[in-house]
Amino acid sequence: MRKKVVFITGASGEVGHALIEHLAAQGNVDLLTMDLRPLPPNIKKHVVEHVEGNLLDKILLARIVTQYEIDAIFHLAALLSTSSEFTPAIAHEVNVEGTRGLLQLAAEQSQWRNKPIQFIFPSSIAVYGMPQIAHSKGLYQRVREWEWNQPRTMYGCNKLYCEMLGNYFTHHYRQLAAESPVSVDFRSVRFPGLISAVTVPTGGTSDYAPEMLHAAAQGKPYGCFVREDARIPFMAMPDAAHALLQLANAPQENLTQTVYNVRAFSLTAGEIRERVLNAFPDVEITYDVHEKRQAIIDSWPGDLDDSSARQDWGWKPQYDADRSFDEYLIPNISKRYAN
Ligand code: SER
Repeated sequence: MRKKVVFITGASGEVGHALIEHLAAQGNVDLLTMDLRPLPPNIKKHVVEHVEGNLLDKILLARIVTQYEIDAIFHLAALLSTSSEFTPAIAHEVNVEGTRGLLQLAAEQSQWRNKPIQFIFPSSIAVYGMPQIAHSKGLYQRVREWEWNQPRTMYGCNKLYCEMLGNYFTHHYRQLAAESPVSVDFRSVRFPGLISAVTVPTGGTSDYAPEMLHAAAQGKPYGCFVREDARIPFMAMPDAAHALLQLANAPQENLTQTVYNVRAFSLTAGEIRERVLNAFPDVEITYDVHEKRQAIIDSWPGDLDDSSARQDWGWKPQYDADRSFDEYLIPNISKRYAN
């Protein structure tokens, strides 16, 4: 008998780390994980098997399907927005081809099992592209899911297209067949910038916030690569894991869309700097603006409208800006670098 598992790709990344801890705390689910990198030992203890390998490796995926019955997929693996600009073709392969392959796998599993396999997909604020004209961002404060879907990064294009693929596999896959086959149950959240106390991101454009915080906690100076007035929404990592799980647990009949904005708080780089300096007053935080990364941040909205998530599946962040910094980020980061 094949073992029933929840399959998590990109498991060694920041969101994977938090999600595995949340799922392990919930109990009663066996986790199978995959990543190019090994799983850190403190989370490896929570999983049945960690597959170190490439998502694009079809033979590896076939081995997984032979060995395990996949109940749900959390597909977290992706190259982030800054990295993707350096290697756009590889980004497309990993972010789009990787996702399409997994959706196909999920669709096949759904047919074998005669029930829709859940496919949970973190999308991103990067799917938005506000025009680069003065104040356009200020005019449109809280952006709805369907507005300004004109991304200026490869990562944003990849995420937007994968949202569409997910919707296609859920509602229209093999639509011309005599009988519509059971297919995937795709659900996605568009995350704002994420900030974790225990991990540091690599290759994102919202990384200035976590980088500033982690540098300050180590007493290191930091040159922020965006202007003081750069504003985007952010979320503390526990809320990100919570959003994915809450969406996964929502009854299907309550969902009116496949993709939902989620937000927690919106701050400028200057406001983040102020909070960081309150906690670590002796460090030096300056601005060393990278105009091209700044332009990417300028294309992302200052805030998101997440009223659909609130209405359909009761989304409510547990960490506003004060609680994120005062109760989660500052105490845990201080502890992390204490020795
Ligand atoms: N944090 C991501 C990035 O900066 C956006 O989703 O790429």
